[in-house]
Amino acid sequence: MYRQVKKAVFPVAGLGTRFLPATKASPKEMLPVVDKPLIQYAVEEAVAAGIEVMIFITGRTKQSIADHFDKAYELETELEQRQKYNTLATVRNIVPADVACVHIRQAQALGLGHAVLCAKPVVGDEPFAVILADDLIDNKGPGCIGQMVDVFLEEQASILGVERVAPAATQSYGIVKTAGKAGSLARIQSIVEKPRPEEAPSNLGVVGRYILTPSIFDEIESTGRGAGGEIQLTDAIAGLLKKESVYAYEFEGTRYDCGSKLGYLIATVEHALQHQELKDDFRRYLMQLNLEG
Ligand code: UTP
Repeated sequence: MYRQVKKAVFPVAGLGTRFLPATKASPKEMLPVVDKPLIQYAVEEAVAAGIEVMIFITGRTKQSIADHFDKAYELETELEQRQKYNTLATVRNIVPADVACVHIRQAQALGLGHAVLCAKPVVGDEPFAVILADDLIDNKGPGCIGQMVDVFLEEQASILGVERVAPAATQSYGIVKTAGKAGSLARIQSIVEKPRPEEAPSNLGVVGRYILTPSIFDEIESTGRGAGGEIQLTDAIAGLLKKESVYAYEFEGTRYDCGSKLGYLIATVEHALQHQELKDDFRRYLMQLNLEG
């Protein structure tokens, strides 16, 4: 019986080709939405869900992620000398003191499944969350991964965060077919990576949130290269389905696909419109644009 989900894996070793040249020397997950990098939103969501160990699967050019979650002595001293105490608190409180950050290097970007497998020595025989920071999910009320931890503890089975996607967009997602009546939670019958719309079993797309049982590691180990020549997490989940129940959960909250330029821009505008310091001036600016347009 699983009583807790204590660890979260953040795969951040992708190449981020859709954001080149911005991602040439700096990771996609460090792109800011207003004033906070994507990876920090994701870690805050995990902290709010009670997760205590953050495992980053890093690749080339990922040093800035380790630095972001580390203590910055020089910056802190400088801010203290300038008496910028609010800014100092912001820099100091990026992660609570009792949260541990572990960094594992994925030597080659062989795919999301392979990235998750890299976490096996640290995760061990426990259930764990996987969070893709480029899916930014707003945190009003319980965050997405917090909702999923609750569902996991109830069902004692792997849970995938899903959302209804435009039927024409199935080629960008893992798509699931579920059993039983429509509802926010349903058992998955099958899963397929990036199907063409005419071959998709539904329009329920898997987004970047998972709670997985440790049996997924055996499945990834026996998974060969799939779509795009990569070791796909979706293929490993298809293997897991044959042995264990896996559920699709339609979470509450708004997802921004910050892996695409348009989704990233929408997230930026909407977060700016909610930002305490900016919202009034920014709204005024947008209204004026409208008038001129
Ligand atoms: P994406 O499919 O979004 O790929 O990966 P990408 O490289 O990040 O971006 P594009 O498509 O080239 O622009 C999904 C997630 O899996 C991670 C990525 O960092 C991202 O969070 N990933 C992918 C890895 O950690 N390792 C891999 O080998 C592949």
